[in-house]
Amino acid sequence: MPATATTIDVSHLSKSFGPVDAVSDLSFVVEPGSVTGFLGPNGAGKTTTLRMLLGLVNPSSGLATFGGVGYRDLPSPLETVGTALEASSFHPGRTARNHLKVYTTATGIDPGRIDRVLKQVGIDAYADRRVGGYSLGMRQRLGLAFALLGDPRVLVLDEPINGLDPEGIRWIRGFLRELAAEGRTVLVSSHLLSEVQQSVDRAIIITRGRLVYDGTLSGLEFTARVVVDAPDRAALHSALLAAGARVDVSEGGLVVKELDGAAIGAIAHRAGVPLSLLAEQQEGLESAFLELTGTEPEPAPGVHRHGAHAAPAEGDAS
Ligand SMILES: Nc1ncnc2c1ncn2[C@@H]1O[C@H](COP(=O)(O)OP(=O)(O)O)[C@@H](O)[C@H]1O
Ligand SMILES: [Mg+2]
Repeated sequence: MPATATTIDVSHLSKSFGPVDAVSDLSFVVEPGSVTGFLGPNGAGKTTTLRMLLGLVNPSSGLATFGGVGYRDLPSPLETVGTALEASSFHPGRTARNHLKVYTTATGIDPGRIDRVLKQVGIDAYADRRVGGYSLGMRQRLGLAFALLGDPRVLVLDEPINGLDPEGIRWIRGFLRELAAEGRTVLVSSHLLSEVQQSVDRAIIITRGRLVYDGTLSGLEFTARVVVDAPDRAALHSALLAAGARVDVSEGGLVVKELDGAAIGAIAHRAGVPLSLLAEQQEGLESAFLELTGTEPEPAPGVHRHGAHAAPAEGDAS
């Protein structure tokens, strides 16, 4: 496998289904060694993008490759890219073990991998039970076992957290992190930021087929609200305004947007104003996500890029 096949390259990718522009001029790069969240509300175009990446849907224009090589041209795809697509169906009459055996037989992957991956995803005790009796969470785990079968360096997972119980969610968060820590490229889609926010290093957010954010989660959090107060609220208010902050006065304190707690603390410190309250609002990240994806009026919002993974600014949305 060429070393570059560990990078996911999406370049000016578009897909229309008749009048529906499912994906529009989408570009991003996903590098090894971290978990990248591919986020957006239902219908945003996530599955369509991933299906184009995996050669299951033909793009209307643009390219989706692994380091320049299309999925269909990969010499040993299962050993290069592991995939778990949404609503993957397994023959209900087959056991988990037999399901995986079909693939090891077809591809020449070491059948010893079967027990290994079933154990890795925690369903080894059910390996010889028929999949028809599996819960949704167990089927999700079997989907992951399939993705891992060829010990691939790249994982493309479409909504793998959907349907997991709280224990399963906790498990998969750690699991995704481990895979990235092993140097793998992990791209994981979700329609819920809250589902993945503890496991992703970087977020690519789309809505209506268009990129609206590409960067770190902390960069996104920047748009969250922080409630801050001081015994001398007037002094704090003027210090924040003087620093160029957007401030709303509420009963519970001053509500500051577009600055994080550290920045506000520093402003107060420089102004010599002791604080009595500094609270980053819990739903800040989620509301930033909703603001980016949910209620924006047309035309589509511009692209916001923050953080270490930011791509070059040219070719920004609009
Ligand atoms: N095969 C298809 N034929 C027609 N429209 C489709 C097809 N697949 C997806 N779409 C439409 O494309 C848009 C994006 O869908 P999808 O990629 O499934 O979004 P997501 O995975 O983010 O929920 C939606 O409007 C959906 O209805
Ligand atoms: Mg989808």
